[in-house]
Amino acid sequence: AGLRIDIISCVPRLLDSFFDHSILKRAKEAGHAEVVIHDLRDYSTHKQKQIDDYAFGGGAGMVLGIETIARCIRSLQNIRIYDEIIYMTPDGERFEQKVANRLSMSKNLMILCGHYKGIDERVREHFITKEISIGDYVLSGGELPAAVVSDAIIRLIPGVLNDETSALTDSFQDNLLAPPVYTRPADFEGWKVPEILLSGHEKKIAEWRLEQSIKRTQARRPDLLQ
Ligand code: ADE
Repeated sequence: AGLRIDIISCVPRLLDSFFDHSILKRAKEAGHAEVVIHDLRDYSTHKQKQIDDYAFGGGAGMVLGIETIARCIRSLQNIRIYDEIIYMTPDGERFEQKVANRLSMSKNLMILCGHYKGIDERVREHFITKEISIGDYVLSGGELPAAVVSDAIIRLIPGVLNDETSALTDSFQDNLLAPPVYTRPADFEGWKVPEILLSGHEKKIAEWRLEQSIKRTQARRPDLLQ
């Protein structure tokens, strides 16, 4: 039961600590999701565990080769069927909430993190089923992007969040930003919490929150309302 994500990386240490903490750790303990990190180097057959090589045609620095990646992907495919084999890359499809929603319904996902100047194009052509970018900026590897995508997906799995409805009220879930929230004290040095939230009128509070969401979206992200 639960979603399994296999992440292939040549710097696996970057990911270990992230998945051993917070929400993701609890998700694992409760059986909702499991993330397994694989060191690409373990699949190299070279004497020095080499995984990259010079680019054909010159320039561009080192490129991750297809042989080691193919061995790694195929060994995982021998054990389970993957809904998607994802490559993290700045020229992929832009990651957004709708993509996270869709991916959170998967059984098995594989995520390949790129590094250096890229990976042999034939990997993308023949193994990868989905390419994702987390935004229009270039990071030095796909590890942080893979962690971002995994976090966004796992927190959507029913039961992972304490309050099961709370992912439904996230920003972006209805193309609206989330409304402001407050906690005690109701008055901090004269800065007061909006009266309506203290009133106990559930319906009025829901209306106020929707109104605030719309106002905030109009002010900050009018593009979402198109
Ligand atoms: N690898 C490097 N930069 C990236 C980005 N912006 N999104 C996904 N993968 C990446």
